[in-house]
Amino acid sequence: MDKLVIEGGKPLSGTIAIQGAKNAALPILAASMLVCGTVTIDSVPKLLDIEVMLNILRELGCKADHIGDTVVLDTTLAHSPHVPETLMRQMRSSIFLMGPLLARFGEVHVYQPGGCAIGERKIDLHLTGLQALGATIMESGNRIICKADKLTGAEVNLSFPSVGATENIMMAAVLAEGRTTISNAAREPEIQDLQNYLNAMGARIIGAGTDTITIEGVESLTPCRYKVIPDRIVTGTLMVAAAATRGHVVLQNTNPAHVSSLIHVLRRAGVQITADDDIIKVNSIARPKAIERIVTSPYPAFPTDLQSLVMVLLTLADGVSIMKETIFEGRFKHVGELSRMGADIRVDMNAAFIRGVSRLYGATVEATDLRAGAALVVAGLAAQGRTVVEQVHHIDRGYDQIEHMLTRLGARISRYTPVPDDRAVPNG
Ligand code: EPZ
Repeated sequence: MDKLVIEGGKPLSGTIAIQGAKNAALPILAASMLVCGTVTIDSVPKLLDIEVMLNILRELGCKADHIGDTVVLDTTLAHSPHVPETLMRQMRSSIFLMGPLLARFGEVHVYQPGGCAIGERKIDLHLTGLQALGATIMESGNRIICKADKLTGAEVNLSFPSVGATENIMMAAVLAEGRTTISNAAREPEIQDLQNYLNAMGARIIGAGTDTITIEGVESLTPCRYKVIPDRIVTGTLMVAAAATRGHVVLQNTNPAHVSSLIHVLRRAGVQITADDDIIKVNSIARPKAIERIVTSPYPAFPTDLQSLVMVLLTLADGVSIMKETIFEGRFKHVGELSRMGADIRVDMNAAFIRGVSRLYGATVEATDLRAGAALVVAGLAAQGRTVVEQVHHIDRGYDQIEHMLTRLGARISRYTPVPDDRAVPNG
């Protein structure tokens, strides 16, 4: 398992362009099963999650090539609606293949994706949404078999604005007969990107980005070429890294509107942020101020995916801050590891009380999930001394060679891949 070794205490500086958005590319790749032919998707980062999605599509019969940051995907020969269990286990988000596969084949076989380090990750809203469109759901063991001779437009109200459920229902509705309305829909930019991709292929969707999305079913789609939006969470990660190291960083290929809640938080902490067109500049010259209370909520409020990152900044702030996590029940796994680096954090239910300290100290820490791991890297950049981050594969799910990104900004960070000790003498 790879490790990252970081020599902390050096302010980040320099300019870097942001990768394409993982959480936009994944549903867009899944949605490609709705069209028969070859699509070209630009700005798709090389990530473990993307590789898993491409492997699933290959298993279903597609031809998929990922050259640079462009994916060329030919779905013509896709023949199977069975998502392999082993691949589903590697990436639970493959659950949003249900909608497109159901629309294309009239059935889909998936497996309970199960929970993960950050929470239970239920899929009830996905299943009830598909049932509303006419699907039948059968469960045997951990296998879910979903069938629909015909999908018919319906009114779907989500009890929670689930991102994945919104995307799954949208995709299932594109080729359904009649109109589908999703109310209390998730409003994330990745859903707007999915709408724009589908409409570029001839779908008729309006409302993405608001809480009501309307889909008029069409007969078929036509392949297209499409460029994915920038990754707002990678953008936010680098903004916080610049702030936590008292750095001066310029980010290109960004969409400032997609990180407006973070910009507001960082300005409250005293960080200088300027945003023009697709450029964000971060200047941090003083110790950050504590922030009385930050609550994670669905977009456009402060995103859960940046909770662990901003917590790192607050561990160094002048005063006490409170961070409340309302989306995932297990998203404080980074707290214990940050405490081992000298942070002073107390957790009570879904609230973290963070008393700022003057500095963090390097330590050997373990990534438990994607954004917790990214937070430990940022903490290592800000800490005094050496930090070793283990279980780096979690981080590779969402950041395209994070050590290269940070080295470009002047960080002292290297990746170590342990070589199996083939000299070892077998026991016995
Ligand atoms: C998406 O996950 C993102 N993943 C997550 O990013 C992100 O944290 C999350 O949205 C919230 O913004 C991708 O887009 C691939 P949800 P998703 O459905 O769709 C509950 C990252 O770090 N829920 O909005 O799974 C669920 O338990 C990842 O890049 C139900 O109860 O999120 C959770 O508490 C992590 N029933 C809450 O809703 C359902 O049927 C939010 O889940 C579905 C969800």
